[in-house]
Parts: sequence; structure tokens; C-alpha cells
Amino acid sequence: MTINVSTNKKGPMISKYIYGQFAEHLGRCIYEGVWVGEDSAIPNDKGIRLDVVEALKQINVPVVRWPGGCFADEYHWKDGIGPNENRKTMVNTHWGGIVENNHFGTHEFFHLLELLDADAYVNGNVGSGTVQEMQEWVEYMTFEGESPMAKLRKENGSVKAWDLKFFGVGNESWGCGGNMRPDYYADLYRRYQTYVRDYTKEHVYKIACGPNIDDYNWMEQVMKIAAPFMDGISLHHYALADVWEDKRPATGFPEKEWYSLIDSAKKMDELITKHSTIMDKYDPEKRVGLIVDEWGSWLDVEKGTNPGFLYQQNTIRDAMVASLTLNIFHRHADRVQMANIAQMVNVLQAMLLTEGEKMIKTPTYHVFDLYKHHQDATFVDTYGETQENIDLTVSKKNGQIAISLCNYDTKETKTIDLSFEKELSGETEGWIVVADEMDAHNSFEETDKVNVVAFSDYELNGKKMAVTLPPMSVSTILIKE
Ligand code: AHR
Repeated sequence: MTINVSTNKKGPMISKYIYGQFAEHLGRCIYEGVWVGEDSAIPNDKGIRLDVVEALKQINVPVVRWPGGCFADEYHWKDGIGPNENRKTMVNTHWGGIVENNHFGTHEFFHLLELLDADAYVNGNVGSGTVQEMQEWVEYMTFEGESPMAKLRKENGSVKAWDLKFFGVGNESWGCGGNMRPDYYADLYRRYQTYVRDYTKEHVYKIACGPNIDDYNWMEQVMKIAAPFMDGISLHHYALADVWEDKRPATGFPEKEWYSLIDSAKKMDELITKHSTIMDKYDPEKRVGLIVDEWGSWLDVEKGTNPGFLYQQNTIRDAMVASLTLNIFHRHADRVQMANIAQMVNVLQAMLLTEGEKMIKTPTYHVFDLYKHHQDATFVDTYGETQENIDLTVSKKNGQIAISLCNYDTKETKTIDLSFEKELSGETEGWIVVADEMDAHNSFEETDKVNVVAFSDYELNGKKMAVTLPPMSVSTILIKE
């Protein structure tokens, strides 16, 4: 069985924004994960922890979505500006009922982005916020001249306006964001987005709240009523090992749950295909992007942690979920313009976990590291029969082909034969993330159990290549054209 790689056919560009992150005021994502405060003994830059920044820079984080999630629809941005001692506290009702001190607000978020060299995706409050509040926030962030909000921003220390790339008008408005029906939300969306003004020549990309999983009626109604007013519409889908009510453990799981979690992640393909077909009815040119701004594994929290903090371990199984889902996004690169894995640090399928001054990289982080070569690359189609439990994705950028392969079989090593349309130079480099236990993971005691290592179990002969993939592995090979 040979897989043909169509390097001569030009596919769509795989937007770097598919590699986006999501950072919510939830559990220890912002506080402790990203923000430790200026007085912390943990090395920081104006309160933002430097180990986390350094690790995230290595995977080229292109965009961060903030402040939620469900938190976004009860967040009032004016509570998070000005001197800390004057910032109003609030109860984070969705996530553990803890008191939020608002020390991490708009200025701190943009400082994080500056350190990461990433773009902003700010999610506005439709559920409990006013149109005026949303309008003023956009003015505060982006207005460069003299205006009441620009003046306030300057008084708070930022003379220059920020670049606001993406703005979400509500989050999960069908649920935690207001329990609305699609027609009602679609009308509200039309109204709120009117006041999300372009104060500079840079257009703010406006994202409507899209469906939960397979709610095709929501997609149909919101597209029918509001498509001309949006640049993107969101989709949320989390991978579950069983049912929502019984999330199942992140480690120590049976083989059955290895495959059930993976199957649930693979459902993303069907969801994008079907939602995209509905979008095609109202937007045949594919102008409106499908923004998968929440995805990843949702498993049991770690024993002894606050259930509202969603702190879960991350294993080689999650690495498979990341690889297979990113491959699906690549295949739908004509419609998926951004995706944001949930979440960046200490929450759900995180890149990084922290404990005091310690920080570890998860297997998912390592997949994002392997896959960074696909950012803004051209998608390359492949055809031919693949073997069971094998998936791959190919892209091309600057005279270099990047091939990522996932063997999600728990037991079998597989050899894959690839055939290219032309002879390749032979200059290659490869890396692999692999484990020999289904729940292999990093911990604060054993930080590098799952890591990226050099990979050379492949042979390139002109147009042909044979790659031998161990079970439970994700690898990337770069080949000069
Ligand atoms: O990512 C955790 C939560 O999941 C988000 O706050 C919410 O939008 C979704 O239900």
C-alpha cells in the first residue's frame, strides 16, 4: 500500500492561526499559570512568568483567545484596568466560585502577547454586558487619537493603542453565555457587532458564536440571519473517552478508552464537513471562517484538585488527539481559519503544567512543537489507502516538505510507503514523540518521560520513501525539495 503525495498540486494555505491557544480565567490557567504578579519569586516580566513565555515562544504561538470561555460573558473589562488596589473583585461563578481579583486585565493580556509575539483574540461579553461596554472596550484597545477611552488607556500607562486582530461577540450564547435561541442570538449578534468598530485601517475580524458540537440548526439559523455581518463563526467540540457525565481518568485508563477518546476526537472531521456544508449555502465563496476556538480532550480532574479548575494530566494519548485533530484542520484549511486548543496552561488539554516555580511540558506541547513547520504552509494532498490506525498530513513551505505521521495503534509498528511526484534532494531531518505505555506522561518528578527525540527510521530514495513508525507515536520529517 503506497500513499501518493501530490506535491505539484497547490492546496490551500494552512493558517498559522490553526495553532492558536485559549487562556481563560479558569482554575490556574491565568493565575499561577501565566500570571504570578510582579512581587513573585518566580522570574517574571511585569508579573508574567518567564518560563511559560519561553516555552510557548518555542512552539510559535500565533494567537491567544482571552478572557473566556464562559468567563467572558460575566467579565466586565473596566474592573481589570487601573491600579491593582482599585480593581473590583468578582466571583468567578463558572469556575470554582473563587474570588477573581482582576489583577490580570487588558494591559496584562497585551503585555503577554507582546512577550509571545502573538496576536489578540478578545472575546466580548454579550450575555451580561451592554453594547456600550463592548464598544468602549474596542475603543480603549484600538483608538489611536484623542477619545475618552484612549485617554483612559493612556492614563493607565499605554500611550499606544494595541492591534486587535480578532474579536468574539459572545461565547456559547446557547449555554453559559445566555441560554439563547439561535434566532435571538443572531439578531443580538447583528446589533452588538455594529459597534465593534474599525478605529484603525486594520479590520477587526468579527467572530459570531457558533454551535456546540452537532447543533446544525444553530449553524443554519445564525448563518441565515447574520452571515454578511461576520468574518468567522465558532465551533466547540471536546473529545470525551465516554459520556459528558462520566469523563473518565486522564491516566491509568484501559485500552478501550485509548480508542474511544481518539474516536471522539476524530468526530471533528464529520462536524467540520457538515457545518461547512451548511455554511456553503450562505457563503459559497468560503469568506466566513469556521473558528474552532475550543477543542481538545476533556477528562477527569486530577485527584485532590478543585473540580471547577479542570486540571487534568496529559499523556501520549492526548498527543494522538492533538495530532489527529490538527491533521483534520489541515484537510479543511479552506474553511478553518483559526482554532484554539483548550487551554494553554493548567486547564484541560494544556501545553504546560505548573506547580509553584516548577513547569513541565506535556506530550501535547511536543506535538505542537513538531507541527509548527506546518504554520502558514501550503496543504499538500495525499491519496491512496492508509493502514489501520495511521494518519498523516503533508505541507510545503519555502522549498521544504513537512510530513507528520501518527501511528495511534497501541501495539503494532507500521511501515508506510510514500511516493512523491518528483525526486527529492535527500536532505532530511526528523523528530518523534513516542512512548511505550498508553498513559505515559510527564510529571513534576519525572519531567522528560515524554519528549521530542531525533527520528531517522526512514529511507528516502528519489521519489520513494519508507517510514517505520513505532506504536503510539507522532513524528515529523522535513525534506528539502
Ligand atoms: O474550556 C472550558 C469551558 O468549556 C469554556 O469556558 C466554555 O466555553 C466551554 O464550555
